[in-house]
Amino acid sequence: MKEIKLHDTTFKIYIPETEIAEIVQKIAEEINNTGIENPLFIAVLNGSFLFAADVIRKITIDNTEVSFIKLASYEGTESTGKVNELIGLNQDLKGRNIIILEDIIDTGITLEKIISLLEKEEVADIKVATLLFKPDAYTKEIPIDYIGKSIPNDFVVGYGLDYDEIGRNLPHIFKLKN
Ligand code: IMP
Ligand code: MG
Repeated sequence: MKEIKLHDTTFKIYIPETEIAEIVQKIAEEINNTGIENPLFIAVLNGSFLFAADVIRKITIDNTEVSFIKLASYEGTESTGKVNELIGLNQDLKGRNIIILEDIIDTGITLEKIISLLEKEEVADIKVATLLFKPDAYTKEIPIDYIGKSIPNDFVVGYGLDYDEIGRNLPHIFKLKN
């Protein structure tokens, strides 16, 4: 499976599943060594579902909790413009130690929105873990605590990441062939 086609676009293998497993292990170890108590992992759907499933199994911290959110953005009916909401946030987050699990951080716009919504819930602490990070695209100042792998500004797909909704099931991460 060195090359694949999605929506008539060719992708070539970039990060094989063996390397993904090593990256996941490294992030889990870093998180395990932090001493965060009773952490609440919040995985950002859809893209992070495989990363979250794999990393969570390697977390050995007592009283670990896991939840999932999805960011919904829609155009308001009035001139207020775009409204963002976290779907799935139905528990009290006040005073909690949150670790956000993201598949990929690109410009950081999504991350910034999630953090501002979580801050309204008066959480105690927010840490950010991402499988992939595109430093050249990042426009925000928010520190990213755990980075699996920094990559160039290439479009990638697989292991949860989609290209127009397909490709999430691929075990390896592929990048655009050019
Ligand atoms: P940001 O808000 O620009 O940081 O983008 C974050 C979201 O864009 C991610 O959670 C992904 O859903 C999507 N995204 C960014 N880069 C890629 C990519 O290379 N492949 C697939 N999805 C991506
Ligand atoms: Mg995502």
